[in-house]
Amino acid sequence: MTKTILEVENLKKYYFQPGGMFSSLRGEKRIIPAVDDVSFYIKENETMGLVGETGCGKTTIGRTLLKLTPVTSGRIIFNEKEITWLKEREFRPIRREMQMIFQDLDAALNPKMRIQSILKEALTVHRRLSDAEIDHDISELLEKVNLKKGKLSNFPGELSGGEKRRVGIARALAVGARFLVADEPTSALDVSIQAQVVNLLKDLQKNLGLSYLFISHDLRIVELISHKVAVMYLGQIVEMGLGGRIANEPRHPYTSILWSSLVEKKNKESTKALADIQKEGWGVFDFERPHTGCRFSPRCPVYEANGRPSICSDPSTPPQLQDIGNAHKVRCHFPL
Ligand SMILES: Nc1ncnc2c1ncn2[C@@H]1O[C@H](COP(=O)(O)OP(=O)(O)O)[C@@H](O)[C@H]1O
Ligand code: SF4
Ligand SMILES: [Mg+2]
Repeated sequence: MTKTILEVENLKKYYFQPGGMFSSLRGEKRIIPAVDDVSFYIKENETMGLVGETGCGKTTIGRTLLKLTPVTSGRIIFNEKEITWLKEREFRPIRREMQMIFQDLDAALNPKMRIQSILKEALTVHRRLSDAEIDHDISELLEKVNLKKGKLSNFPGELSGGEKRRVGIARALAVGARFLVADEPTSALDVSIQAQVVNLLKDLQKNLGLSYLFISHDLRIVELISHKVAVMYLGQIVEMGLGGRIANEPRHPYTSILWSSLVEKKNKESTKALADIQKEGWGVFDFERPHTGCRFSPRCPVYEANGRPSICSDPSTPPQLQDIGNAHKVRCHFPL
């Protein structure tokens, strides 16, 4: 059986921000439940896609997994070892196996270093290598990510977006990554280059047995690469299952609107529903709105169609993520 590489249990990350002027004077703080009780696992050689609009908590999940941001509560288990509260010194050897491809193309690339030095630094951060070994490993890395040798003497600023992305991936491999959090790795790239990056990640997975958490707001890209998909809305997973099922048989009203508006551009009703949601500040936690049972209820067409049933809006009956069979889970009182 394939081994589980990452397991996340009941992960919570709350940010605390000063409230309005008067509440700040009273010492009150707003709570942003950026990640609110999220659980999932990823197996070796597997890609989990995480989708949802800006602000729903995707990057925060990625950052907590790699301990770049401390969790509020929950458990993170990597390669059968709990890492949630490990001290930096204990975590350091594990970190090289867990790397993040940041949304910002330049994030991992020092602009003052040539590509050769960036890769050399990554290769030698945990290992002592001879010059010949470094040259050999760099050649191998370039081949893996399809980058020309001539680029080694360039500075990051001299590369195209796609080339920078390749260097970022090579850098993660050089450090020794087995598990990658790829945070919107294609969002800053032209459409033709996006497909190249997705194919590169797929090839690397096949050849090296890597596992990915692939984060994107773009469902089409997520479907291309993910074995399973989790859909997030305001800090919670609202639907999770195999990629094909989430795409073809979505059961949560939110997922359904997302997919149908993409798949059937002609479907005016769902496109309009999506436009309405976006207009209303979709995906952004609304502090002024009173707490509701289901976080999606203020925007849910099924809730409206059913005459606003109180079970959806009552704070005492928030929907739970329920198993509906076939490895499919949905958080809704009236699944489609
Ligand atoms: N350092 C921070 N301090 C306070 N709030 C934050 C911080 N980082 C993110 N947030 C808030 O947490 C929520 C989730 O953000 P994020 O994880 O970046 O979402 P996504 O990646 O899905 O766009 C947002 O409401 C964002 O404003
Ligand atoms: S629980 Fe109710 S409001 Fe929430 S998604 Fe389902 S139908 Fe819509
Ligand atoms: Mg993000």
